[in-house]
Amino acid sequence: MDLVQLVYYSRNLLADDDKGQLKLLREILSIARQKNVERDVTGYLIFDKHWFIQILEGDRAHVRATYERIARDPRHTQVTLLDTKPVRQRTFSQWSMGGAMRNLDQQEVFLAHGIAGQIDPTKLNAAKIVAVASDLAALSGGRASQAA
Ligand SMILES: Cc1cc2nc3c(=O)[nH]c(=O)nc-3n(C[C@H](O)[C@H](O)[C@H](O)COP(=O)(O)O)c2cc1C
Repeated sequence: MDLVQLVYYSRNLLADDDKGQLKLLREILSIARQKNVERDVTGYLIFDKHWFIQILEGDRAHVRATYERIARDPRHTQVTLLDTKPVRQRTFSQWSMGGAMRNLDQQEVFLAHGIAGQIDPTKLNAAKIVAVASDLAALSGGRASQAA
């Protein structure tokens, strides 16, 4: 398999009340998980009120097609590709798409990576994002509890 890992970020256009946002995010994650399982794509989605930051892993053609589909989604804008690189193994092999709303435990992970307050993906590189997401994924413990 021509295994790659892709990292992008985008501006979130979801409703700004927390309840509406959570509902839409559940929908996004649910569809993402269904489709990603079919294509053996794995990854992690970090989000807050302003940003989505997502990592997609899998066969190059599947990752590219998934990214192109996501990039056309009207629920976000300014979709910005940070990196696509070949990898020997997946970082998120247990996750058809992990992701969770920021809570106190997550906050600790961000702080441990030197990210205090609002996250600003325009100031992060792909390696940093993968490191943070990998620690966030470890918090919630794999496929059995894909939060949110
Ligand atoms: C931030 C964000 C992340 C998404 N992640 C995925 C994903 O990982 N995989 C996926 O198939 N769809 C994902 N989607 C949903 C796609 O944009 C799209 O709505 C869905 O795949 C259905 O596509 P279709 O209507 O062309 O079948 C995501 C959407 C958003 C806004």
